[in-house]
Parts: sequence; C-alpha cells; structure tokens
Amino acid sequence: MTQSTTPRAVPTPGRTRLRRLRQSPAMRRLAAETRVHPAELVLPAFVKEGLAEPRPITSMPGVLQHTRDSLRRAAVEAAEAGLGGVMLFGVPERRDATGTGATDPDGILNLAIADVVAEVGDALVVQADLCLDEFTDHGHCGVLTASGAVDNDATLVRYAEMALAQARAGAHLVGLSGMMDGQVAVVRDALDGEGFLDTAVLAYAAKYASAFYGPFREAVESTLEGDRRTYQMDPANRREAAREVMVDIAEGADVVMVKPALAYLDVLADVAAMSTVPVAAYQVSGEYAMVEAAAANGWIDRRRAVTESVLSIRRAGADHVLTYWAVELAGWLQEENR
Ligand code: PBG
Repeated sequence: MTQSTTPRAVPTPGRTRLRRLRQSPAMRRLAAETRVHPAELVLPAFVKEGLAEPRPITSMPGVLQHTRDSLRRAAVEAAEAGLGGVMLFGVPERRDATGTGATDPDGILNLAIADVVAEVGDALVVQADLCLDEFTDHGHCGVLTASGAVDNDATLVRYAEMALAQARAGAHLVGLSGMMDGQVAVVRDALDGEGFLDTAVLAYAAKYASAFYGPFREAVESTLEGDRRTYQMDPANRREAAREVMVDIAEGADVVMVKPALAYLDVLADVAAMSTVPVAAYQVSGEYAMVEAAAANGWIDRRRAVTESVLSIRRAGADHVLTYWAVELAGWLQEENR
C-alpha cells in the first residue's frame, strides 16, 4: 500500500477510498462485476456456394467466406473454443426475385446447416440467419410489390417456408433478421405445424437501419441499392425498441436481439431490464472493421479494444454476444483464467 503524502492544505477523501478495490490484479478480479465466458459467445460465419478455396473479405480482415469444407473446420474450431454457437449466413451463386435459394433444400445455407449439425451439432447451438436478402436479386429482406415496396405479408409466407427448410436441415435456432411485422408468429406456427416444436426462434427485435452493416454487404455480396429504412428501426428511436421486444416475446420469441451493439448500449440496457427471455446483442461487421482498421494502423491496442468492447456489451445487459472475434476472444479468456 502507498502511504498518503497529501499536504494538509488539500482536502482528503476521508474514509471512502475507491482505489482500494483497484490496487492489484487479484483485487480487481475479485471486484469485477461482469465477466465474459466463451459459452455466451456466438460466431457469425459466411459460406459461399461453389467456392473452391476460402476467400478473405477485404473490409473484415481475418474473416472469410467459407467453402462448405472450411466452414465445417471453422465450426469444429468454434466447438473446441467452447463457444455457445455459430450463426450461419449463405452466399448463393444465383439470386432471384423471391429468393428461391433460401427454401431450396439444396440451397447453400440449408446444405451448410446440415453440414455443421452433422459435424458439431452436439457441442454448439447451430443457428441460421432467416432472411431473404442474401437470396434476392434486388437485395431486400423480403419480396417486392409491383411498385417496388417490400411486401410485408407476402414476405411472411416466404419466411415460414424458409424456417421449415432450415428446421429440416437441422437448425437448432432460426434467427429472424428481416424486421417484418408478424414474422415471429408466422414462423412459430409454421414450425409447430410440422412438428418442429423444439426449434428455437431468435428475433432480431431491435434491429436498426445502420451504417455499421457496411462490411457485411461485401461479405454476402449484397446487390442492394438504397436502404432498409422502411423495415429496420430508425436510429433515433429508443422507446420503440421495447415495443418491438414486447411484440416479439408475445409472438413466441425464445431469444430477442439488439443490433448493432456498441452504438446502441442504451437500447440494450433497456431491453435487458424489461425482457423476460434471454437477450442477444450483435457486434456487427462495421464495429469489427473499425477496431481492426485502427489496430492495423497502430492507433489502438487490438486485444484490449476487442476485450473491452465485448465486456461493455455484456455489462449493458447482453446474455449472448454475436461477434466475429468469438474464437480468438475465447482463447484469450481461457488464457486469462489459467
Ligand atoms: C440481414 C442481416 C444483415 C446483417 C445480419 N443479418 C444485413 C442488413 O440487415 O443489412 C448484418 C450483420 C453485420 O453487419 O455484421 N440478413
């Protein structure tokens, strides 16, 4: 302990000295209010149809478009790292107006789900993105009306079909990321109707129309022109997130999500306080890219920034964190626990 050298003329803090609990690594470890565990981490992963070799994604250094084979290996690595799950995204070779590839049992995402379930299905929760944007030629998350608007109710029919295709492929959890009204109810009913009573539904309840999805567009080779502001939430809105969550829980969501994470920690804290189901947060592609770019320039300590950002998302109230750093971070956590 350091002795006080405070001159008498300066007021002293009295009995309360908050630095006592910060004085050593052991004391800080004991006093830590939040911990991150590999089991809470979920790795998002991309698999591309017809790819011969895994391909780097320029705007997401360290993240790959996988082949079916390399995805299997990545899933094994995720299981060995003790992660909670993987979230799969498919990049099809051909796209059309209604996203046929999403419901084709031989579509890339459905094949990849089956591959990963066969490889690590006992060790990981195998999750699949349930949305049409990777499969439509216009790049929107739903089907369009004649005038080019995203048709909510016609899209629900496609989501129900997509949920069944993913459940048949063996998905443990389907992640509804399209932000259509009524999507959770429609998918729950479709799953139950075919006996998939145990297939869980994660609802991207508070998903914002965000600039931080930029690099993801490269990752899935998005063809979208324009934006998703008629279905994703306005970044200006906080109260509305609670409404989205209430509706999704009432419709039967097993898990709700807030996305992006870092710029929406207020929303995450609100949702964590009111949700009766587990809350996931998605640390999205742009959040990843910002840290990687700054670290590559030597402007930021990469490991500390990654650790701090995920810790902060947990501290704000997330039960699960989807992060492209999941495997690396799990390794660091194991190292620190030794
Ligand atoms: C939609 C979807 C998106 C992301 C996850 N699911 C893109 C979007 O809504 O525009 C973004 C994830 C990320 O940026 O890491 N299928």
